[in-house]
Amino acid sequence: MKLALVVLLFLPGAAWAVDTDAATGLIKNPGWQQVRAHCGGCHSHALVTSQRADRQTWLDIIRWMQETQNLWQFEPGTEAQIIDYLAANYPPRSNRRRAPIPPGLMPGAGAVDVQ
Ligand code: HEC
Repeated sequence: MKLALVVLLFLPGAAWAVDTDAATGLIKNPGWQQVRAHCGGCHSHALVTSQRADRQTWLDIIRWMQETQNLWQFEPGTEAQIIDYLAANYPPRSNRRRAPIPPGLMPGAGAVDVQ
């Protein structure tokens, strides 16, 4: 019971370390106002924050919206800020599987010469 309380008290602390805008859910790091201004007009900002992608893929998503969804063109500086922000704050999720165990560390590897 006590442990549960401790967990409840401290777990959310980690989430609060990232400062997010209450209205949009965007992480408040450099460039976030550009994304607030340009990326919430047609769909929720949640569509942005739920996406994870590398730089090139973010750029591809923007180009796709420009070509097919009437997204406007950006000044080069503005576009760079948006892409920098997206790539830095919403990068691809890391692969959380551990690496395979080396054969030499498997049970019995020391005693038997595994082919
Ligand atoms: C002119 C309208 C418009 C604006 C502005 C806009 N989008 Fe979109 N976006 C769309 C439409 C339409 C879709 C497709 C929605 C759907 O599938 O329901 C979309 C989809 C997306 C998706 C989902 C793509 C996928 O593969 O599912 C992401 C991520 C996204 N937009 C990010 C952004 C970002 C980042 C910005 C700001 C640079 C932005 N959008 C601005 C129209 C827009």
